[in-house]
Amino acid sequence: MKVLVTGGAGYIGSHTVLELLRLEHEVTVIDDLSNSSIESIRRVEKLSARKVKFYQGNILDKNLLRTVFGRNTFTTVIHFAGYKAVGESIKEPLSYYHNNITGTISLVEEMLKYRVHNLIFSSSATVYGSASVPPYNENSELGQPTSPYGQTKLIIEQVLQDVVSSNSDFKVSSLRYFNPIGADESGEIGEDPKGIPNNLMPFISQVASGKLDKLSIFGSDYKTEDGTCERDYVHVTDLANGHVNALNWIEKQKLSVFEVFNLGTGKPSSVLQMVNSFQQHTKQRIPFEIVDKRPGDLAAFWADVNKAERDLNWSAKKSLRNMMEDTWNWQKNNPNGY
Ligand code: NAD
Ligand code: UFG
Repeated sequence: MKVLVTGGAGYIGSHTVLELLRLEHEVTVIDDLSNSSIESIRRVEKLSARKVKFYQGNILDKNLLRTVFGRNTFTTVIHFAGYKAVGESIKEPLSYYHNNITGTISLVEEMLKYRVHNLIFSSSATVYGSASVPPYNENSELGQPTSPYGQTKLIIEQVLQDVVSSNSDFKVSSLRYFNPIGADESGEIGEDPKGIPNNLMPFISQVASGKLDKLSIFGSDYKTEDGTCERDYVHVTDLANGHVNALNWIEKQKLSVFEVFNLGTGKPSSVLQMVNSFQQHTKQRIPFEIVDKRPGDLAAFWADVNKAERDLNWSAKKSLRNMMEDTWNWQKNNPNGY
C-alpha cells in the first residue's frame, strides 16, 4: 500500500515507518524536523534496506501539501505530526492549538481535495482525563484533559468525527496510545528527547548513562499498591504494529466510519516497579529520591485492550523486560541521541 506518514521522523513515526517498510509498503514522510532528526529516516532505510520518500516541511504549509498529494497517490495517511510536551503546552497553548488542531485541519482539507479517504490518527489516553475508573475502555466517559496538549487530542477527535458525519467516504481510526516506551531491538532508532526529558523512561535511561544524577519520583502516597503512580507502558514496536493492523482494518471498511482503539498492554506498572525492572534487566543502578507530586498526574490508568484484540487482531507482544533492554540498548549505543 502507498502510505503518507506525517511526523514520520519522530519517535513513534520512525518505528512505524520501519514496520511498514519491512512489510514492503511504499512510504512517503512529511516532517518539519521540529522535534526530530533526518538521521532517524536514514537509519530506518538502512535497517529495512528500502527507501522512504521524504519531504521536509510543515503540514500547515498548503503549497507543500499540494505538492505531496499532487505528485503521489496514497491509500492512507497516518498522522503523527504534532507537538506533545504536556508542560510546554501549558506555557504555550496557542502554539499547541495552532500546530496540532490547525495542522490536522490543513491536512484533512487536502486529503478531501485529493480524494484520500483513510486517516489513522495518533490520539492519547489523556482524553479519558479523570472522568472514568480504569481500565479505560473506548466507551469510557471522556474527561477534561489536564493540559492544552490533551485538549488538542480531544478536539481533533471531535473534528474528525464531524468530518466523517459530513462525508460518506471518509474513514478514521483514532488510536489512543497509553505510555509508549522502548526502542527497536536493533538499538539504531529510539526516543531522542531534546533537553531534560519530561517522561519517565528517557529520564531513567539518562540517569543510567550518567547524563543525569538521579531520578525524582513524583509522589509516593497515591492510592496505589506501592504509593507511586501506575501506567500502562507499551513497547513502541508493538505500537507501530498496531498501526499496521489499523491500516489493514481501515482499508477493509466499506462505509465511512470513525472508530477509536486503545493501544496498550492492559497491565499497569508503578514508577517503582519500572525503576526496579530497569535495574534488574540492565544491571544499571538508578539512584532516586521521592519528591512532591507533579500537578495534573493521575494516580493510575491502564487500557482495556479487548476492542483492539477483537477488531484489529492486535495485542502487545513484548514484555517489560524487552522494554527495559531495548531502551537501554538504544541509550547506551546513542548516548547523545541521533
Ligand atoms: P515526536 O515529537 O517524536 O514526533 C512528532 C513528529 O512530528 C516530529 O518528528 C516533529 O518534528 C513532527 N512535527 C511536529 N509538528 C509538525 C508539523 N506541523 N508539520 C510537520 N511535522 C511536524 O512525538 P511521538 O512521541 O513520536 O508522538 C507522535 C504522535 O503521537 C504525536 O501526535 C503525539 O501527540 C502522539 N502521542 C504520543 C505519546 C507519547 O507518549 N510519545 C502518547 C500519546 C500520543
Ligand atoms: N514520573 C516520575 N519522574 C519523572 C517523570 C515521570 O516520577 O521524572 C512519573 C510520573 O509522575 C508518572 C509516570 O512517571 O506517574 C509516567 O510519567 P510520564 O511523563 O512518562 O507519562 P504520563 O503518563 O504523565 O504521560 C504520558 C504521555 C502524554 C500522554 C499521557 C496519557 O507523555 O503525552 O501519557 O497518555 F498524554
